[in-house]
Amino acid sequence: MSAPTSVPAAETSIKPTDLRGILKYIPRFRDQIFVVALDGAVIADDNLTNLLVDIAVLRSLTIKVVLVHGISQQLAELSTLREIPITNADGTGVTDRPTLDLAVRASSRVSHLVLEGLTQNGLKCAITNAIRALPVGIIRGVDQQFTGRVDRIDKDTLHHLIAADIVPIIQPIGFAPNGHTLRINSDLLAIEVAEALDATKVIYLTNQDGLRINGELRRDIAVDTLRKTLDSVPESVAPTARSKALHAVKAIESGIPRVHLVDGRVYDSLLNEVFSSEGVGTLIYGNDYQQVRKATRSDVRFIHSLTRSAVKREELLHRTQQAIEKNIDQFYVFEVDENIVACVTLQFYPDRPELAELGSLYVMPFHHKRGVGRKMVEFAALRAKELGAKYLLALSTQNPGFFTNVCGFDESDKSALPAERLKTYEASGRNAKVLVRAL
Ligand SMILES: CC(C)(COP(=O)(O)OP(=O)(O)OC[C@H]1O[C@@H](n2cnc3c(N)ncnc32)[C@H](O)[C@@H]1OP(=O)(O)O)[C@@H](O)C(=O)NCCC(=O)NCCS
Repeated sequence: MSAPTSVPAAETSIKPTDLRGILKYIPRFRDQIFVVALDGAVIADDNLTNLLVDIAVLRSLTIKVVLVHGISQQLAELSTLREIPITNADGTGVTDRPTLDLAVRASSRVSHLVLEGLTQNGLKCAITNAIRALPVGIIRGVDQQFTGRVDRIDKDTLHHLIAADIVPIIQPIGFAPNGHTLRINSDLLAIEVAEALDATKVIYLTNQDGLRINGELRRDIAVDTLRKTLDSVPESVAPTARSKALHAVKAIESGIPRVHLVDGRVYDSLLNEVFSSEGVGTLIYGNDYQQVRKATRSDVRFIHSLTRSAVKREELLHRTQQAIEKNIDQFYVFEVDENIVACVTLQFYPDRPELAELGSLYVMPFHHKRGVGRKMVEFAALRAKELGAKYLLALSTQNPGFFTNVCGFDESDKSALPAERLKTYEASGRNAKVLVRAL
């Protein structure tokens, strides 16, 4: 075991009151399959015990978990201990016979550790031989020997186990049609398993805090951006995360909606990543992940609490839950990973059909400066135009500069307001700036 790297529980632990927050995820995640890929380095960390408890929590919330594990660290350690040189530690490149033999030993040991930990948490689990593999063969003239690629995954076996409430544990080892053993890279294997089982998430638990591009930790990144970065400037992605980044792109392109990279050494990181809109690692998402949609009645309470702090700071006009509900047709929300992080309203005035008013624009602070506010304004502008408006109005007390500098509005005055709106404007006493944009 390595030196403890876990963050003290008090700093990150989920409070009982957070259960309310977690509860909203349960209907969404019910019976979905998550493939959790544990790096060898995470298995060697003191936080493994906590991670396995977290996996038990996911199971108790009816999330179906399949575990894939790596062995790089253990294989490298075994090689040093026995003074047997290995041709690679991660299952890419050539795997010669001695490396394969050590890999099988390391893998048995790691699987056993996981099996033991899950058993201690009251979970049923099973190590499987569900991975059929073929030798990678000769690449650029070099025989890769015992390095394998996935040929077929025995989905039926895995589904049977899952249905029987048994967590499958998948080793980075496959079996060729002749029964011979081959070594497979576990990053790749996790993706292949997720694809075969139609999983909704792959969660890579690694010994890094997430994906760093040019040294900067990314909390979320669209697959298109990541693909372009990997194609044009691969060296900007930290080498330690490049394999996972490449596999994440492949996974999302083949239909898995989300891939997470999470530091498995940090206490509660898995639960915090799954059960919070902000996450603690890096989320790599498909194009359909961020979106604006019309709000529904079930969003009322959330919109009310979302905007409450801005109302307190007088950035937004106060609206009761009842008022939000009454006007819910005017609201649009922006979702990140199916969580509402921003809202905006669009209102029309019967006596001034050429005008539409944008209001209640609010972006959660965590998501500021990522273009969400601008997107919401652009969306409102497009929608207003579609519905026949020629001008978009906005009133702002504290952020008029956002509308004028960033969103193409001009400052106007209250004479631009429809008669009905002028009355409420004057009655409010807020003296907000009146901003107008031609559509
Ligand atoms: C104003 C608000 C919607 C901006 O949301 P956002 O998602 O951070 O905006 P974007 O990421 O699209 O744009 C950020 C850009 O706007 C600029 N910006 C934000 N507020 C600004 C202001 N008051 N004056 C000038 N520029 C501003 C930022 O500096 C940033 O510029 P950059 O692109 O050069 O980095 C957000 O801060 C918010 O919700 N504020 C509280 C509610 C509010 O005031 N709503 C408006 C009244 S209806």
